[in-house]
Amino acid sequence: MKMKLVFATNNAHKLEEIREMAGGQYEIVSLKEIGCQEEIPEEQDTLEGNALQKARFVKERYGADCFADDTGLEIAALGGEPGVRSARYAGEGHDSEANMRKVLAKMEGVDDRRARFRTVIALILDGEEHLFEGEVRGEILREKHGAEGFGYDPIFRPEGFAESFAEMSLDAKNAISHRGRATRALIRFLNGR
Ligand code: IMP
Repeated sequence: MKMKLVFATNNAHKLEEIREMAGGQYEIVSLKEIGCQEEIPEEQDTLEGNALQKARFVKERYGADCFADDTGLEIAALGGEPGVRSARYAGEGHDSEANMRKVLAKMEGVDDRRARFRTVIALILDGEEHLFEGEVRGEILREKHGAEGFGYDPIFRPEGFAESFAEMSLDAKNAISHRGRATRALIRFLNGR
């Protein structure tokens, strides 16, 4: 029987990414599919804290085994910004274009372009909490490239590649991405049980 796990998100991109990687072994269910319409609080100042807060919220309200993720883009020259504030960097609107404009403006004339994406996944299963992490290092481009993906993809080029994340196929991105790595760690754990 397929194992049912709630992924505490309604982000269609993320659901598609993870369903592809989980390979049909698990039934990954979104918040919408369990009837959760509420905004889940994310008030912590670390990725770990936010991922745990979201997973605990779903477990407490819906009683379901679940996992939640939190991702940040950490730019060395900006002291790790936008980090845990990546979604709302340019304001409450979750506007990717505005977020990228803000990063590009802050990085104008800056030669140190080093950055990394980091994802933390918190899993609550059989009453136990587990954390998984993935990161990808790269650099912030000077302008946008490509139209795939979401978020900061057009201005992030992973180390060892000529293209931005937004110029890669979903498969190519999943193979090296922060969330891909964190997700594989989660799936390895689940398969090993
Ligand atoms: P979240 O915690 O996964 O919602 O990520 C927070 C923010 O980081 C998102 O709103 C995006 O702006 C950005 N982000 C997360 N994952 C990615 C990615 O794979 N590519 C580009 N930006 C991302």
